[in-house]
Amino acid sequence: MQIRAAVLEGFGQPLVVQDVELRGPQAGEVLVRLVACGVCHTDMYTASGVDPSGYAPTVLGHEGAGVVEAVGKGVTSLAVGDHVVTLFSPQCRECVHCRSDKTNICLAIREQQGKGYLPDGTTRLKRLGSERGGSAGGEPIRHFMGTSTFAEATVMPEIALAKVNPEAPLDRACLFACGLSTGLGAAMNTAKVEPGSFCVVFGAGMVGLGAVAGARLQGAERIVCVDLSPERLELAKGQGATDTMIGGQHAVDQILEMTDGFGADYTFEATGNVKVMRQAVEAARMGWGLCTVTGVAGKGETLDIIPRYLITGRRVAGSSFGGVKGRDQVPQLVDRYLAGDIDVDAFISHRITLDEVNKGFELMHAADGIRSVIEF
Ligand SMILES: NC(=O)c1ccc[n+]([C@@H]2O[C@H](COP(=O)([O-])OP(=O)(O)OC[C@H]3O[C@@H](n4cnc5c(N)ncnc54)[C@H](O)[C@@H]3O)[C@@H](O)[C@H]2O)c1
Ligand SMILES: [Zn+2]
Ligand SMILES: [Zn+2]
Repeated sequence: MQIRAAVLEGFGQPLVVQDVELRGPQAGEVLVRLVACGVCHTDMYTASGVDPSGYAPTVLGHEGAGVVEAVGKGVTSLAVGDHVVTLFSPQCRECVHCRSDKTNICLAIREQQGKGYLPDGTTRLKRLGSERGGSAGGEPIRHFMGTSTFAEATVMPEIALAKVNPEAPLDRACLFACGLSTGLGAAMNTAKVEPGSFCVVFGAGMVGLGAVAGARLQGAERIVCVDLSPERLELAKGQGATDTMIGGQHAVDQILEMTDGFGADYTFEATGNVKVMRQAVEAARMGWGLCTVTGVAGKGETLDIIPRYLITGRRVAGSSFGGVKGRDQVPQLVDRYLAGDIDVDAFISHRITLDEVNKGFELMHAADGIRSVIEF
């Protein structure tokens, strides 16, 4: 079939929205008609060429939600008409990691996904045939993050789709595909915040605000959100922050002051800045403070930690997709949204069309709003 999709033709160039060919689902695969898709930093990061593992041409996008239109042979967990959220972090339920409750990092399709291919090592996307597509007609186009959701439709492995409650509007559900679940999960799964605790969240973007909401759902007593932007700190209050603070070099001292010199039970880093990661470690409480790092640092950057901070009982954990096992837990998070526990509307700052995808990048670059959502 022919679909419209936003193709990364070359690094550092605007995406080119064009018609491409999408082949139907093979064994274990599912064709999804996309309804909405968030525009995330990771898409922009790859488009810029800074990501060392990036490739082109590829159809970007990974925060998708849509409706199943067809299923390939052997697909048993999904049927035509199901509402789904796309998962860049799949859950096969069979690999050694999926069978453990200690991690959500599924091993089943990592290698091919990392290279932009579906699990069988090929793509379903290609340029239109030569009469229409010029000399490059028929050239394969790779699948970004196994998702490629800046497109009217996508073909994905069954294990990378979460079936969600059809009552959830898909323009909200799509945010559970990445940043929101990452933040919620960092607090709920990775840190397992205890009721009555003191939490600090560095960064009030999608991920940090999700962590604020997660800490609130876990029953934290104090949630301090630290950011450089007063507008974003205002949003943090809406998600449950009890205190807000402008970040900078005094942030750690200020947190120590608020905690009788001890530090916070739980800290979260959601900025991607290694200096802030260090602050998050140093703001964690002696004895048992747990620092959860979610930010993605620049290539080659390292996190400096004075070992004494660890010996005296602080711990550091990293969190990919908030430790969320996507097929099991994304539907549960969406249900909590439907139950009124999570205010998703507050995150959607702009609604755009697929043709305006580059505008989504510009808005993000200008830190204008939290999320632009593409509606198909
Ligand atoms: N671990 C994962 O699975 C995962 C998933 C999605 C995103 N991420 C990463 O999480 C990070 C956050 O993502 P996002 O979408 O929320 O980004 P974002 O850019 O929207 O938010 C980052 C926030 O950090 C704030 N900030 C910058 N410097 C600061 C400082 N010194 N002190 C306090 N706050 C400061 C910024 O003002 C901004 O509001 C990024 O690094 C992103 O790549 C990780
Ligand atoms: Zn993302
Ligand atoms: Zn697995």
